Amino acid sequence: MREALDVSVWDAYYADGRHFRPVMDEEREALRRMAAPRPGLSALDVGCGTGGFAKCLAEEGYSVLGVDYSEKAIEIAQSSFTETSGLRFMCLNAESDEWETFESYDLISARLAYAFIEQKQEFLKRVRDHLSPGGSFHVMTPLAESLPESRKSVGITADELEEMCQGWSSVQEYALDAQHTAYTLTV
Ligand SMILES: C[S@@+](CC[C@H](N)C(=O)[O-])C[C@H]1O[C@@H](n2cnc3c(N)ncnc32)[C@H](O)[C@@H]1O
Repeated sequence: MREALDVSVWDAYYADGRHFRPVMDEEREALRRMAAPRPGLSALDVGCGTGGFAKCLAEEGYSVLGVDYSEKAIEIAQSSFTETSGLRFMCLNAESDEWETFESYDLISARLAYAFIEQKQEFLKRVRDHLSPGGSFHVMTPLAESLPESRKSVGITADELEEMCQGWSSVQEYALDAQHTAYTLTV
């Protein structure tokens, strides 16, 4: 059973100057191959942290909104990428705050964040409801089975993977390294 993390844990982590793994070249390649980015498309990066993947999406041509419920993460993201056009950030709890004012997106991404979503079925419904026709949900995550016991909670289980991949017209996957896989799930 995964222990729910409070937002204060993330805030303290970011306030300490810590961050997560930088975006790998392979992730950009996975995105290019599976989601075919191009200028003019829109993206929502959920659980964006300090914004590294959102920046990558903007560089690939998307107009991007990055959201995270850690105020500290959003503060850092907002001050880090002032030169990158088409990129903005907002503090928001992607599970409990409304998405109603959001438009539809061509891509919704969750990099190293999907494992921490507590109510995954409800979240998946929100994602589908906010994807444009033909849009995709792009997830980068470790699989719990590939992680040591002490870190299993940061990955998704085989059951969670199966649930996540159900009901899409296409499911593509790209192995990034021994522990991380990218999935692009298309409406
Ligand atoms: C492991 S970090 C990954 C951050 C970033 N995507 C990256 O790759 O560096 C997970 C992030 O998800 C955010 N998060 C978790 N649950 C969330 C929720 N319900 N709403 C918004 N953000 C959430 C956390 O605050 C944290 O920044």
